[in-house]
Amino acid sequence: MSNEIKNVEYGLEKIFEGAQDFLPLMGTDYVEFYVGNAKQAAHYYKTAFGYQSLAYAGLETGVRDRASYVLQQGKIRLVLTTPLVADSPLNDHIVKHGDAVKIVALWVEDARKSFEETTSRGARPYMEPTVETDEFGEVVRSGIYTYGETVHMFVERKNYNGTFLPGYREWKSDYNPAPTGLKYVDHMVGNVGWNEMNTWVKWYEDVMGFVNFLSFDDKQINTEYSALMSKVMSNGNGRIKFPINEPAEGMKKSQIEEYLDFYGGPGVQHIAIATDDIVKTVSDLKSRGVEFLSAPPQAYYDAIPSRLGAHKDAFKEDIKEIQKLAIMVDADEEGYLLQIFTKPVEDRPTLFFEIIQRMGARGFGAGNFKALFESIEREQELRGTL
Ligand code: FE2
Repeated sequence: MSNEIKNVEYGLEKIFEGAQDFLPLMGTDYVEFYVGNAKQAAHYYKTAFGYQSLAYAGLETGVRDRASYVLQQGKIRLVLTTPLVADSPLNDHIVKHGDAVKIVALWVEDARKSFEETTSRGARPYMEPTVETDEFGEVVRSGIYTYGETVHMFVERKNYNGTFLPGYREWKSDYNPAPTGLKYVDHMVGNVGWNEMNTWVKWYEDVMGFVNFLSFDDKQINTEYSALMSKVMSNGNGRIKFPINEPAEGMKKSQIEEYLDFYGGPGVQHIAIATDDIVKTVSDLKSRGVEFLSAPPQAYYDAIPSRLGAHKDAFKEDIKEIQKLAIMVDADEEGYLLQIFTKPVEDRPTLFFEIIQRMGARGFGAGNFKALFESIEREQELRGTL
């Protein structure tokens, strides 16, 4: 593996031995949220994060029971969907979980085969392979449930050249705040219940052909008060990475337990989004009102050169500036990374975002876990949930 310091965007070649090839995934296709008010949520993601208007479906396009706004930035597509009528099943999801990620859609070559391969290995079906067409061609989608009520949708769009999906029309808006440099989904993390992490690790191995390439136990991920365990699952080409967390016993309540209480079960905890210039991206996001966790103490920043080790000379950023923005730094054998975490983006302490810039490192900031979790605990303390 190359030691060259650069941003990593993986190709399609297999990089993780042990991963199986029955479910080739080309990337994240879209992430769909069920929300209480999609119009206002779309305004937030445009204004605060710089997403661009892409497509829309709703009453004006002949859809009677829901409205969906599709936003794009770099390779990331968010779909914000809200029910329009009282008897929509979407309401149950929102009552139970609040505004939440419902669908993590994966871009595939063959959605029928993806459905057959995964359901024959034990996946619970969400949607049988379904062909949707319009004047721009056809899309085939199928879906399976993963943890909780979360769904993986398989999207085959090789015979389609429309804006998003059949049923959506292009959304042209007069309000177009500038992008903030967000490029692609780096990883998406799921929180599952007590003692369920290994069940879901095995599920991703058996059903999706993924491999477990990093593990952190509660000895590595703990603070004075609380602990959690985490295993990182990846598909063969490394484009799809799903760390899975479960709570662990500590003196006080784990942040994972807090999530499970407020989410009402397992669900997506955070979406990590890659940028090429974290200083610029985070400065932009802060000026637009995105709230981040507070900075670790001075001692943390004093220790950055020693944490960088062999990559100290390659480190380009100004530590003072990094500290001012509360960005954190970690390194592994292959390089370093810069990362920062938003506060939850809804009133329930559930989903949040991570902004990450990889400079060769393939890890997840294990060296930052302690400082990060102490910062989260300061927020939990304020919420009365520690
Ligand atoms: Fe992360």
